[in-house]
Amino acid sequence: MNAIGLGLDTTFDDTSVAILRGVREVLANLTLSQYRDHEEFGGVVPERASRKHLEVIHPLIREALAKAGLDFADLDYIAVSNMPGLLGSLLVGVTVAKALAWSLDKPLIGVNHVESHPYANILASGPWKFPVLHLVVAGGHTLLLRADAHFDYTILGRTVDDAAGECVDKVAKMFGHPMPGGPVVDRYALKVPGDAFAFPRPLLNKPGLEFSFSGLKTAMLRFREQNPNVIRKQEPAVLSSFFQAVVDVLVKKTFRALKSEQLTRLTVSGGLAASQKLRQTFESECTHQGIELCYPPPSLCTDNAAMVACLAAHRYAQGRFDDLSLDAFPNLV
Ligand code: KG4
Ligand code: ZN
Repeated sequence: MNAIGLGLDTTFDDTSVAILRGVREVLANLTLSQYRDHEEFGGVVPERASRKHLEVIHPLIREALAKAGLDFADLDYIAVSNMPGLLGSLLVGVTVAKALAWSLDKPLIGVNHVESHPYANILASGPWKFPVLHLVVAGGHTLLLRADAHFDYTILGRTVDDAAGECVDKVAKMFGHPMPGGPVVDRYALKVPGDAFAFPRPLLNKPGLEFSFSGLKTAMLRFREQNPNVIRKQEPAVLSSFFQAVVDVLVKKTFRALKSEQLTRLTVSGGLAASQKLRQTFESECTHQGIELCYPPPSLCTDNAAMVACLAAHRYAQGRFDDLSLDAFPNLV
């Protein structure tokens, strides 16, 4: 019989609870976003985020169980993201998961949140074949990973400063838009051509697979200060051109990695992958270049506990569990 897992994700400002049967059958996947709770502060306030997680996590677990028509006793394992993220937020999920694993006497599985993003693709379209290239474009991380098997990775490239999502959020905020900035910028990019302004494509003219987005953010700050009239009249074209620069860097570096590693399979995941502009660009490039593309629907791109449970289901199958000394780590290790 397929194992049933409870997944918890409290890495940043979303509280998410999922119940998964086997590796793909999502019985519940509930996410409460805190964007509104932090709006007045212009960014996520860590202390407030952990308090909010604490308030909502227990009712959300009960709601997920009710939705799945299950009881605590039906769970075979408890999975939780224990890195990376805000320490106080992570600790809420980790502590609840440990308490449940101990009281139910069920295995505990700690999951690296960033590593779990590509697993959204298994939920959406089934298991991938190895070797495969994963591009993860989450709010805080931009990574190119080569996977030769589950949990057997080589990091080919990562950002040396800001992640792409972080850059998009900060530039949108600079232009007066509320968090998260990605959906706003994506809407402009779909409506208006992105070739009116030539913004920098950091590190694209240098060899290698590292990313850098802080220079682009600074270029946008300077452009905004020096061209108030252009911004007033042509903000959609400016933001669309900015996003085109981000998309160009992500797509071109990804294809550079596919070529240098001689890979023909690609998955894209993470919150920024919810962008329709990014999806359309990858879809047409992959068709053109004969690359097999896995791309999850937007609801599985942004943070959710189903992807955490999906990764954990693969660990459960291998009998690789954690003990109650499982700790939370703010950084990617
Ligand atoms: O993966 P994620 O939900 O959280 C982290 O793990 O960090 O990613 C959040 C990022 C933010 O930069 C947000 O602006 C972006 O995903 N995002 C989007 C969309 N929805 C969220 N970007 C473009 N289009 C969207 N629809
Ligand atoms: Zn994420």
